[in-house]
Amino acid sequence: MIPCVKTIAVGEGYNGAHREAARPPPIAAIREPHGMSASDKHTTHFGYQEVPVEEKASRVAHVFHSVAARYDVMNDLMSMGIHRLWKRLTIERSGVRPGHSVLDIAGGTGDLTRKFSRMVGPRGRVVLADINESMLRVGRDKLLDSGVGGNVEYVQANAECLPFPDNTFDCITIAFGLRNVTDKDAALRSMTRVLKPGGRLLVLEFSKPGNPLFSRAYDEYSFRLLPKIGELVASDADSYRYLAESIRMHPDQETLKAMMEAAGLERVEYTNLTGGIVALHRGIKL
Ligand SMILES: C[S@@+](CC[C@H](N)C(=O)[O-])C[C@H]1O[C@@H](n2cnc3c(N)ncnc32)[C@H](O)[C@@H]1O
Repeated sequence: MIPCVKTIAVGEGYNGAHREAARPPPIAAIREPHGMSASDKHTTHFGYQEVPVEEKASRVAHVFHSVAARYDVMNDLMSMGIHRLWKRLTIERSGVRPGHSVLDIAGGTGDLTRKFSRMVGPRGRVVLADINESMLRVGRDKLLDSGVGGNVEYVQANAECLPFPDNTFDCITIAFGLRNVTDKDAALRSMTRVLKPGGRLLVLEFSKPGNPLFSRAYDEYSFRLLPKIGELVASDADSYRYLAESIRMHPDQETLKAMMEAAGLERVEYTNLTGGIVALHRGIKL
C-alpha cells in the first residue's frame, strides 16, 4: 500500500532572510479520510522497469528529491523554455476567475499556482499540493520570494487519495504529474470527487507525437541528449533517463481521454501541443 501522506515537520528548513520576520505558511500533511489507494495489480512500471506496486512511489520520490533543487533550470533547458507556453495555454483554458478555489496537484515548484494566485485574488484560494516534500519546499520558497501571498496553501498529499471533501474546487490542474502516479485511475477518480459540479480538470502531460519522423527525432533527443544534460547540469543521468522512459510508458491521447471519461468526467477533449509531444486534456464534472 502507498500511504496517502506522510507527516512532516512544519516550517522546517527555512533560512531565507525575509522569512525570519514572518513565519512561512505551513505545509500541511493531512490524513486522508477516504482511505488508502487501491490496486489489484502486483507490479507496475517505473520507466521501462517492472517493479512491485508498493515500490513505485518511493522510486518516484527518490527521483524528485534528487532533482528538486535544479528542477526549474532543467525544465527551461530541456524544453528550451517551451514548457512556459504549454503552461500558459493551461491557464487560459482553466476558466479560473476571481473568488475561485483551485487545486494544483503534483504542483511541484508552483509555476501554475503562481499564476492562479493572481487570478483568484484575495477572495479566492489556491492549494499547491504535491506528494514530495522537497518539491513542495522549493515551490513554497519560490512563491514567497516572488511575492505570492496569503491565498495559497501548501499541502503534502497523494493525488490518488486527496484529503479534501467532495465538491471543493472549481478547477484542478495536474501538470506533468499524472505519469508519475502509480494508480492513475484512482487519481482521476479522486480529482473528480473533489471537483465541484461544473468544475474543470486539466491534465497537461507528455503524450505521443503523431508524425513518425518527428517521433524518431524526439526519441533520439530524449534517450541520448536528455540524460547527458541531466548528468552535466544536475549530476543525475538516471532521473532524466526515467523521465524519457516514463513519457513513453504514459497512455496516449485517446487512452487518457477514455480514462478521464471512466473517472466520471464529461465533455473530455484534448489539444496536441508541439506536434503531440505534450497534450492538454480537459474534462468537466457535470
Ligand atoms: C515533473 S513534476 C511537475 C511539477 C509541476 N506541476 C510542473 O509542471 O512544473 C511532477 C511532480 O509530480 C509529483 N508527484 C508524483 N507522484 C505524485 C502523486 N502520487 N501525488 C501527488 N504528486 C505526485 C512529484 O513529486 C513532482 O513534484
